[in-house]
Amino acid sequence: MTHFRLLTQNGQGHDADEEQLAIEVLTGLTAEPKHLSAKYFYDDKGSEIFQKITQHPDYYLTNKEVEILTRISCQLAHLIDEQEIDIIELGAGDGHKSQLIIDGFLKSGCKVNYYPIDISEKAMVMLRENIRPDSSLAIHGVVAEYFEGLKLVRSQSSNRQLVLFLGSNIGNFNREQSQGFLRKLWMSLSASDYILTGYDLKKDVNKLTAAYNDGSGLTAQFNLNLLHRINQELGGNFKPDKFQHYGIYNPVLGAMESYVLSTEKQEVYIKALQRVFHFDAYEPIHLEYSFKFTKKDIEDLCEQTGFTLVQNFTDANEHFIDSLWQVTKEV
Ligand code: AVJ
Repeated sequence: MTHFRLLTQNGQGHDADEEQLAIEVLTGLTAEPKHLSAKYFYDDKGSEIFQKITQHPDYYLTNKEVEILTRISCQLAHLIDEQEIDIIELGAGDGHKSQLIIDGFLKSGCKVNYYPIDISEKAMVMLRENIRPDSSLAIHGVVAEYFEGLKLVRSQSSNRQLVLFLGSNIGNFNREQSQGFLRKLWMSLSASDYILTGYDLKKDVNKLTAAYNDGSGLTAQFNLNLLHRINQELGGNFKPDKFQHYGIYNPVLGAMESYVLSTEKQEVYIKALQRVFHFDAYEPIHLEYSFKFTKKDIEDLCEQTGFTLVQNFTDANEHFIDSLWQVTKEV
């Protein structure tokens, strides 16, 4: 029987979340140029659209990472070589990739405590259904912010830990934010703990551009869903069909950037903010950065944040890297 336990860290309730969204929308829509944050993409509808994006052939990232994890899962367990391990996943998704990694450890005879951490309780329900039970596997779903969840897990266990941050989720952070995030992770972990992070690599611009402008219009839907969300949760009157998705590669930043453009001069009222926002024809709202990396970028990040690079794992086309790092501390 697999042990499944749900730990909930209720730092703030629904009202506080809504207030946070309101403040950020007010800030972003009064800024010049206008912007909104990609972290708000993932309401129920947004998560559902993202799930479809990951299965679309134009969005190669997920397939490439699955290829890597399938190939290395046994090797990973062999490299880490523990009797019992905590696998802590930040933002677990549907659990398909997590299963691949867990299986490698189980096959090697290692006991696994799997702690998916996600702010959405719905994600936990999905994981519970998708991860295959095993007598050597205990699952503890943690509904919390990443670092609060990590603290909670570490207060309950002293096993060797492997933190997973897959899918190039790190790409939403700029270089400084990535460093900050990784340093915080380093501080939170003990010497010899591991992190496995997914990085999408710099590559042919056409390949990148296609991934964020998929042929089925899913990415467009995904971005415009944020306007729907503002309508629903903040009483906005955005007409999403009067906005156009635009995804481009910025080679100076090394990042894909997503915008929605107002296709005409228009005004949008948001009730919760008691405020009208003006849009010029073809005025952009910036929504997302998806940073891309070279091997050198990854090595530099590792060195700057106090880890030791154990091994980079890539796919046959070298589109993506899962990079295994170990925490080094001096005594
Ligand atoms: C989930 C942040 C990795 O940036 O590639 C997919 C989100 N945006 N298509 C990415 C996303 C547009 C995705 N991450």
